[in-house]
Formats: sequence, C-alpha cells, structure tokens
Amino acid sequence: CEKPDARPLRQRLLVVANRLPVSAVRKGEDSWSLEMSAGGLVSALLGVKEFEARWIGWAGVNVPDEVGQKALTKALGEKRCIPVFLDEEIVHRYYNGYCNNILWPLFHYLGLPQEDRLATTRSFQSQFEAYKKANQMFADVVHQHYEEGDVVWCHDYHLMFLPKCLKERNNNMKVGWFLHTPFPSSEIHRTLPSRSDLLRSVLAADLVGFHTYDYARHFVSACTRILGLEGTPEGVEDQGRLTRVAAFPIGIDSDRFIRALELPQVQEHIIELKERFAGRKVMLGVDRLDMIKGIPQKILAFEKFLEEYPSWCDKVVLLQIAVPTRTDVPEYQKLTSQVHEIVGRINGRFGTLTAVPIHHLDRSLDFYALCALYAVTDVALVTSLRDGMNLVSYEFVACQDLKKGVLILSEFAGAAQSLGAGAILVNPWNITEVADSIRQALTMTPEEREKRHQHNFVHVTTHTAQEWAETFVSELNDTVIEAQLRTRQ
Ligand code: G6P
Repeated sequence: CEKPDARPLRQRLLVVANRLPVSAVRKGEDSWSLEMSAGGLVSALLGVKEFEARWIGWAGVNVPDEVGQKALTKALGEKRCIPVFLDEEIVHRYYNGYCNNILWPLFHYLGLPQEDRLATTRSFQSQFEAYKKANQMFADVVHQHYEEGDVVWCHDYHLMFLPKCLKERNNNMKVGWFLHTPFPSSEIHRTLPSRSDLLRSVLAADLVGFHTYDYARHFVSACTRILGLEGTPEGVEDQGRLTRVAAFPIGIDSDRFIRALELPQVQEHIIELKERFAGRKVMLGVDRLDMIKGIPQKILAFEKFLEEYPSWCDKVVLLQIAVPTRTDVPEYQKLTSQVHEIVGRINGRFGTLTAVPIHHLDRSLDFYALCALYAVTDVALVTSLRDGMNLVSYEFVACQDLKKGVLILSEFAGAAQSLGAGAILVNPWNITEVADSIRQALTMTPEEREKRHQHNFVHVTTHTAQEWAETFVSELNDTVIEAQLRTRQ
C-alpha cells in the first residue's frame, strides 16, 4: 500500500492564471453549478500525461460570504481547481483597471484609452497598487498549496508581479511565466510608469516564455534598455543570475476539432448551414468583441469589397461572431455600439428584402456549432490589429480538410509567423488591401487553395497545444537543474 508521504508518480503542476477554466453559477447559499470551459490552456494541459495539473485562479464571480466561499472551494476542488477570492473593489481596479484598461491596450500598441487619458494617468497609481495586491493574493494561495518538487506555471499579463511574490516566499520554487499577448517594443513598454517593477518581477521567474521570437526579443531589449541588464542568447543576466527567455508558440488540440466533424450533431449543423447559405460564399469572423480584433476595420473592408466588386453582393455573406467580453470596461461598451452602427449601415445599404450581407451575432456559439461553421466557411477573416497568437486561425484550418478554404490573416497576429505561408497576409489597417484579398480568396483556384491549406494543416496538426505545454514545462525543469549545477561549480 502507498506510504502516506509518497509523492505522486507524476510531477505536480500548479497552473496559475487570472481566470479558472470554469464558469461558476450560484444556485443557492451553499450550492454552485460549474461548467468547465474548453479554452486552449485547458485542452493543452489535459493532453499532458506526465504532469498532474491543478489550477489556481479567480472564478470570475464575487463571493463575499464565507458559506459561499467554502461551498465553491469544495465544488472546485473536485475539478482540481483552487479559487482566489477577489472582492469587487479589487476586481474593479486590478482586472477592469490595470489589466484591461492599461496593460492590455498598451501591449497591443493601442496606447492608453484616448478619452480618459488624463483620468487614467491620475488613477494609475491606485490601480497599480490593486494589481500588486491581487498578485500577492494569488501568491498566498499558491504558497498554501505548494509542495516541494511542484512546478509553478504563471500565465499572462495579469500576473506579472507574481514570480517575484512567489520567490520572496520560497526561493526554491520552480517558477515559469508565459505571456499570451504580444510583448511590445521597449519604446512602448517604457511609457508605463511601473515599467521597471514589472520587468524585475518577471525576471524573478526561472523561465519566461512568449509566443514568438519577436516578443521575446522585445522583452530582452526592455530589460537591457530600461534596467541596464545584460541580454544574452539564453535570456537576461542580472548579477550572475540568468533568467531564461525563449519563444514557445502555442497550438490547439487539433484532434478534438477533427474528430468533432464526424459527430452527428455537427453534421446536422453543417447540413442546415449549407441549406441556409446555398448559392453564396461564406466568409467568417470569430472574435471576442475586443478592440485588438479589428472588427470595425474588417467590416469596413468588407464594405469596400462590396463597393469595388458589386457583382459579388448577392453571392457572398459575412458571418461575424463577436463574443462579448470585459463588458464593464467603457472602451468595450463603446466598441459594441460602434460595431452595431457600422453593421446596420452596411446591411441597410447593400441588403435586399430577402438577404443581408452581414450576419452579426453578439454571443458565443457552442463547440459543435462552431466546428460546423468553420467547416462550411469558404474564407476566414482573422484581421486583428495585434494578437498574441490567435487560435481561431488554427481552429479554422483544423476543420477545413475537406473544403480547403482560404485564411486571410493579419500580419500583426502571432499566427502570421506560423501560418503565413498558407494564408493571405494583410495589413488590417489597409481596408483596400483587405478588400482585394477577399476577392483574391474568393476567386483562388482549387490547386492553389489545396497547396496553401496543406501547408497550414500540417503545421496545425503537428504543433499542438499538448506539445507546447510539455516543451515549456520540461524546459523549466531543465533550466532549474542547469542553474543548480552552475551555482555548485
Ligand atoms: C486573452 C487573454 C487571456 C484571457 C482571455 C479572455 O486571451 O490572454 O488571459 O483569459 O483573453 O479574457 P477575460 O478578460 O475574459 O479573461
């Protein structure tokens, strides 16, 4: 029988992210209903057999009372999730404020929100204090659950202060940090009043990862130019201590999408969609309703296409799925109204009594409906103004092995570096170029489509999310071993 103190065979991995991979709905004083969400990170870690992953994060709900907290902690425990409870005030200043109104736009080169630039400048310090406080709260929970030998993997821009907080509590902890957004040029990063604190804190990690080599290079430049540290091919060195910095491009669980296409419920959706849009080419956009996704620019480019090539007006439809997100942040509220206004105007201008050129939905679709939509699409439009990677482009490619549709992809998405050879790359700010690319995609020969699709399909099915997670964690283990050997020498 197992000794009580025996370590599990698999290494424990504590995955720390702002948001837990569940949505929690309160059903009563001490009862909760939970639904696991199947984001990229979840499927990546489900596929990794050699680690036993536990999640630490915010459940996305305010739970002020102890009874509710206890019940939620218990329910989440069954899903290997551990909650960090953040009160409304902290959420407002840390999540809506510092994370989503400051870091997010800045890291995507959108600058600070235009209209309240001064107000933002004034409230900056208080939001940064809340950010640090929230990161300390995450660190407390990690510290409580940490066991020697665990690997701690921190995720994203919400938790840049976490590596430092963790190492202060236990310098032997193996800590990795991965950024899911772009890391901007050092010239942009240096405008942040808290620029140095954030860099120094991230550098406390043993391994720092980005989606692309460019983001890693920007980070190293920021450390050399702002902190005056030394950049080496391995990372950043500070007084003999090396923080390894490298690129680890994420992928998707491509098999999950490919297998789903065979399911009867997906096949039914496919038949319905084909009937509904018979005789028209289907163009698709799937985005969170976020400024970085360039939805207004995309729709204006589609309008330009209809203007320039009017014979296509009744032969094409654009389906735009815009999933609401961060709805408490004013910039996002403004964006929603802006998109509605543009869509209404274009449908009024080009629609007929029986058909409109744009179907815009302000909601998410379930996984099966989404797979069906990907499968019937002729042209996918991923025209983010900036995007860390963009996995919609990967999901589309995974579902297109029969149809071999065309991907129009922004050169400012991380995915352009991996799918660039198969996609038509565009500058999303140039609506004439995007309009011409739409025409090119709709009139492309089957041979050309096949060649381009094949290139992307091979990439998407061989660079999976599981492989990404395994590579990062084993590199983190190796990095720590190498550092120990170096200090012993
Ligand atoms: C991006 C971020 C994630 C975040 C997601 C959804 O992909 O990199 O960390 O979870 O957006 O945003 P939300 O604010 O709803 O968590």
